[in-house]
Amino acid sequence: MKKNLRSRYASALVLSLSVVLMVTGVLMSIRTCKTYESILVQCTHYDRLAQPLQHLALSLAFYLGLTVLGSTMILLTLVKMAGRNHREIALLQQKNQAMDELNRKQQQLAHHQRLELLGTLTSSISHEFNNLLTPIMGYSMMALEKLPPEETELYDDILEIYTASKKAKTIISRLSDLSRKNSSSTFHQVSPDTLIQKTLDVVAPARPKNCEIKLGLNCWDQRILANEIQISQLLLNLIINSFHAMEGIDGVLSIDTWFDQESIHIRLTDNGKGIDPDALPHIFEPFFTTKEAGKGTGLGLAIVAQVIEDHHGNIRVCSTPGNGTSFTVTLPRLSGQKADETAL
Ligand SMILES: Nc1ncnc2c1ncn2[C@@H]1O[C@H](COP(=O)(O)OP(=O)(O)OP(=O)(O)O)[C@@H](O)[C@H]1O
Ligand SMILES: [Mg+2]
Repeated sequence: MKKNLRSRYASALVLSLSVVLMVTGVLMSIRTCKTYESILVQCTHYDRLAQPLQHLALSLAFYLGLTVLGSTMILLTLVKMAGRNHREIALLQQKNQAMDELNRKQQQLAHHQRLELLGTLTSSISHEFNNLLTPIMGYSMMALEKLPPEETELYDDILEIYTASKKAKTIISRLSDLSRKNSSSTFHQVSPDTLIQKTLDVVAPARPKNCEIKLGLNCWDQRILANEIQISQLLLNLIINSFHAMEGIDGVLSIDTWFDQESIHIRLTDNGKGIDPDALPHIFEPFFTTKEAGKGTGLGLAIVAQVIEDHHGNIRVCSTPGNGTSFTVTLPRLSGQKADETAL
């Protein structure tokens, strides 16, 4: 910083000196011309002109030299200053980029810490809640069974208690899924296409009649190292979300798989209502939902994100409101040799 300031002062000094040189050169040239003009006009004999003309030429050469020197120095100093400014701007841009990156990383860290805290809290709270919900559900079910048939109003009230507790239990169990960390022993080699097929069998009863599923599966022989239950859960959440997004239209859900040297790619594309650009950055956050109260917990994609993290993969989403959404999941592919080693 100090060095920078010193070189700025030096440039300013050189610039002022150059300006002084140039101005002096110009002024002195004009003055010399004027002085010699009167001398030359008064001269009557040609042989007396030689000496003043020689002096005039020498003086003019000297002062014009000064002017040229001054202007060249001004030019060089300005070029040098422009170059330095350019370097400083580039440096500042680099600094800004580094600060932005740092800010982004800090926000990511804070987000991860919040999720971690949520995980720790939920795993302990969900255990306590389950202990409370089990007797509520058990006793309300027993009360329903014992009620005489004419007590219809009371029956409906108790049924409400039972249904609400059941919903609460579902939320608790999904929260536990979100916070549960898997031990590596639950990971096995699986074919992604086999998993997709199994999940589709499970989800078949939930498929709306107006929704068609198109498959383009090209990874039957490929293997990923995966927790089968978790990956099925991931696929289930993505498929169910697509079904919901295609409610009331002639929906098409395409599921495609392909692979390259390093990875297996799974893409689910629907032609549903799409995701609002304002909502898009938040869809993986726990409890974010656009569904009406009681219809969605907003935990589906948070679980998906957790599963992806556990499997060292990544997920990309691309959506156009009114046109549809596509989620692309990328998971590490087990190469032939790695697959054998893991099998041992
Ligand atoms: N395929 C999709 N098409 C349109 N919107 C989607 C799609 N997938 C997710 N979304 C949006 O992302 C939000 C969050 O999804 P997420 O699965 O986390 O929660 P949810 O479906 O609302 O509730 P839950 O899955 O817990 O029942 C949804 O409410 C919806 O707005
Ligand atoms: Mg969902």
